[in-house]
Amino acid sequence: MFQMPPYHQGPWAQQTAQKYGEMFTLRIASTTWVFLNTPRVVSDLLEKRSALYSSRPRFPYASTLMSGDCRVVLQPYGAQWRALRKIMHGILNAKNGGTFAPFQDVESKQLVLDVLRAPEMWWKANQRFANSVIMSVVFGKRVSGEEGREGKGKGGENSNVDRLFDTSQEFIAALQPGANLVDTFYFLDRLPKPLKWWTKRGEEAFRRLLDVYGAEVDDLRERMGRGACPPCFASKFLEDPESAKLGETQRLFALGSLMEAGSDTSRMTLSQIIAAAATDRRWVKEAQGALDRVCGFAARLPEFSDRGQLPYLSAVAKEGFRWRPFAEIGMFHTLIKDDVYEGYHFPAGTVFTWNAWHIALDPDEYPEPLRFWPERWLDPNIQSVDPSKVEDPLAGHWSFGAGRRVCTGYHVGDSNVWIAAARLLYCFDFEQVAGGEIDTLNMNVAEHRWAPFEVKITARSEAHRKLVEGCGGEAVGVAC
Ligand code: HEM
Repeated sequence: MFQMPPYHQGPWAQQTAQKYGEMFTLRIASTTWVFLNTPRVVSDLLEKRSALYSSRPRFPYASTLMSGDCRVVLQPYGAQWRALRKIMHGILNAKNGGTFAPFQDVESKQLVLDVLRAPEMWWKANQRFANSVIMSVVFGKRVSGEEGREGKGKGGENSNVDRLFDTSQEFIAALQPGANLVDTFYFLDRLPKPLKWWTKRGEEAFRRLLDVYGAEVDDLRERMGRGACPPCFASKFLEDPESAKLGETQRLFALGSLMEAGSDTSRMTLSQIIAAAATDRRWVKEAQGALDRVCGFAARLPEFSDRGQLPYLSAVAKEGFRWRPFAEIGMFHTLIKDDVYEGYHFPAGTVFTWNAWHIALDPDEYPEPLRFWPERWLDPNIQSVDPSKVEDPLAGHWSFGAGRRVCTGYHVGDSNVWIAAARLLYCFDFEQVAGGEIDTLNMNVAEHRWAPFEVKITARSEAHRKLVEGCGGEAVGVAC
């Protein structure tokens, strides 16, 4: 436990893998962790034996105290998790892409306008974009530009979006190995309540979270009451007698988890693509050339219907997921039954993870791994990836996880990133700021209160500026 750094563990996990090979074992108090360091072993265990390798460790603080055992991402493999996964799959599956597309269209038009008007607030514009897509589909409500740009509610208080990002950050911090002793040393959980110094902190975090989720559900019920809510996932969900069986807290968490997971992840990937664009003009020129050939020079924004003609942009999205995985040491998958693999005996309860940073930056897997190189997904001579799979969000990398626990929202995440990246690259140029060079191996893209790095963003031409003003202006006024 003390060998592993508290944050940004990727480089440490990479060095350890380089020393020990395909797997290494770590003892964290009474729990054994196995890091899987090549796609071969990740696939053999987390994918092919997924029925065994898909639970989560017990976390008395992060899961029980802080999340009321209702956060889907930490729920053990079992009936409750399965029921929630089914509900989420119902809304996030590929066939439902048509429900998301019109919202992604409007929000990405507003994204380019927000960036044009306040380029130094590009990171807030990304947050608003990702948050507003999921809020539109789930809660039937767009997130206003004002809230997105200034991060404040009308009274100057922090907006619910900011509170959402605060609670999410708190949750991610609580998941870091060793962050809360009781999640490592389970015997502490048996102490009498007055001796558990962390209880109050955890209960307060839980209350804050319920406030954030509850504020949206109260607002939704109020709009439903006065007939001012367009049909949306949450209104149908709350009216469905089946969902009532889950209980009020679990229902809140089902909606809240969508909001949380849907908002944070796409905006972080977009930040990474912007860093890649500012530090390497070469691929940006390729992307712009491809876009101009399909959409003309400042003639119209790229659309989802152009995707088949724009494989380079799908490769950009894919490379964005691979380049600097923000789940640096993957995510814990707990084994539920003893298992034997290539002579190793793994007892039930062993925690497995894919070594995300190491695999993504392994030159044996990805030639010139540090480079943002979309061509790698299109040219089988560069990499042994089938170019016909460039639109498959999961093919060729592990950034969405593995097996039965794979990210439920990967279609939405992928299409969010595709449309936003295509439109940003079509409209803007990106440059580093003198004296503020971007250290792409040490960016904290999870930070939501200030820019993770400085970047200069300018419209590609006067014609692009006008195009953005026109399309973006229309999008701002669109009702949900
Ligand atoms: C855009 C990029 C995204 C990335 C890179 C990403 C990544 C991940 C990863 C690594 C996991 C853990 C997988 C595992 O344990 O094997 C995960 C789980 C999850 N993701 Fe995503 N995600 C993204 C977008 C989204 C979106 C847009 C949503 C929903 C709207 C979402 C919802 C979830 C949920 C609910 C889980 C928990 C699944 C479970 O534990 O069964 N994600 N995601």
